[in-house]
Amino acid sequence: MPRYILSLDQGTTSSRAIVFSDQGTIIASGQQEFSQHFPQPGWVEHEPQEIWQTTLSSARQAIAEAGCLASDIAAIGITNQRETTLIWDRNTGEPVYPAIVWQDRRTADQCLALKQQAGLEDKINKKTGLLLDPYFSATKISWILDNVEGARERAERGELAFGTVDSFLLWQLSGGECHATDATNASRTLLFNIHSQQWDDELLETFRVPAALLPQVKDSAADFGNAQSKWLGAEIPVAGIAGDQQAALIGQACFQPGMAKSTYGTGCFMMMNTGNKALHSSHRLLTTVGYRLNGETTYALEGSIFMAGATIQWIRDGLQLICNARETQPLAEQTGYENPVYMVPAFAGLGAPYWDPQAKGAIMGLTRDTGIKEIVTAGLQAVCYQTRDLLEAMAEDGVKPAALRVDGGMVVNAWLVQFLADTLAISIARPQVTETTALGAAFLAGLQVGIFSSLEQLAELWVHEQAFEPSLPEEARERLYQGWIDAVNRVRVDA
Ligand code: G3P
Repeated sequence: MPRYILSLDQGTTSSRAIVFSDQGTIIASGQQEFSQHFPQPGWVEHEPQEIWQTTLSSARQAIAEAGCLASDIAAIGITNQRETTLIWDRNTGEPVYPAIVWQDRRTADQCLALKQQAGLEDKINKKTGLLLDPYFSATKISWILDNVEGARERAERGELAFGTVDSFLLWQLSGGECHATDATNASRTLLFNIHSQQWDDELLETFRVPAALLPQVKDSAADFGNAQSKWLGAEIPVAGIAGDQQAALIGQACFQPGMAKSTYGTGCFMMMNTGNKALHSSHRLLTTVGYRLNGETTYALEGSIFMAGATIQWIRDGLQLICNARETQPLAEQTGYENPVYMVPAFAGLGAPYWDPQAKGAIMGLTRDTGIKEIVTAGLQAVCYQTRDLLEAMAEDGVKPAALRVDGGMVVNAWLVQFLADTLAISIARPQVTETTALGAAFLAGLQVGIFSSLEQLAELWVHEQAFEPSLPEEARERLYQGWIDAVNRVRVDA
């Protein structure tokens, strides 16, 4: 009886695959980075073929390293960079345009024009829990339909399919048999009514998206069809799908209302479980589907920051101030928290709670003695200050979490996590498995095929590694944070 689960984690900068045991431990993994394309300022694209090929080869690598047979894998779970938009031909599988990535700002003007229509953003917000921002899929879909010759007509004739990355991978794995997504991914498109759990005709009309493009929306643990045997060596059911931040919520076992996690990958996404209530934010946080199991929706409140790990990547590759992200911890230890330099990483505008797509990044507070270590430290501190912005917004919405579970590549940096605890003034827990995104997808697939029986069982598999308690005096905490607020106010265009 096969007992392993293969998790495919298709992220913004790399595709990863992890083979998990039936206890949620990592057996083996594979990973491949792929290229980022920036054809114009503010545009970000991925090659669909690269998304697919790197996913496939990392899956093969993980299976080979696990030393198991494909037939030992009971199910596949998919988790993915959300909102990123693909449209392909239903007959040939050929994408009509590169994937437009969630960070892409090309539709900022279109969003601005829609915002001018009285009451429209409010109406959209009530239905979808989202805001009118280029971040989400809807305006990216209509951009492709308007800019690729003949695409709109083909879409109306039912010849094309839209999908976020999960749908695209499912389509590829199943050889074009399955065109589906899950409720978490659907909830990021601006086209899905999170209360009725249906695609919304009025929204389709507003964004000029033909219904014929859309995938079927299923629970996050469901029968999504089979990966064909030609890909991995055996036919394997795809049994779980969730957007990566929702998968991390599940992998962090945040199953009770009030539990929150923050993931530090390319961006930073803080998410809090709000139970069966879709809590409306008055402070520009997003209301989203946390997961949908057995037809029951669990909602979450989310704060999305566009640049976290990507800021360090820019310091490494763009400025070439460091060779490896691991260097950031000793540099920050030398600088200390009393750093007069502030970096506002608004490279893709500002996300929550500001939502200012036109803002540009800045480094402030430079003096003659400023060096590499202060700039690197400012990059790390910016991630913590932005997380505090989100926490403040949650608190003002009346739902401040008492503790936070963190994960993602950046949290190996203990200085960063300690400064985060100091900045937020709450206790931070780091789990043993920090690959919580992949783990969450494995949990979903395992639930569906009966390897796991309940959320309670999954909560028991979550293992705590280290707690970080706040220790910074309040005076320093508030003074440093005020410096951040001043810095942000200087880059905002809409303030
Ligand atoms: O909403 C975008 C998010 O899903 C991207 O996640 O892990 O690639 O930063 P990540």
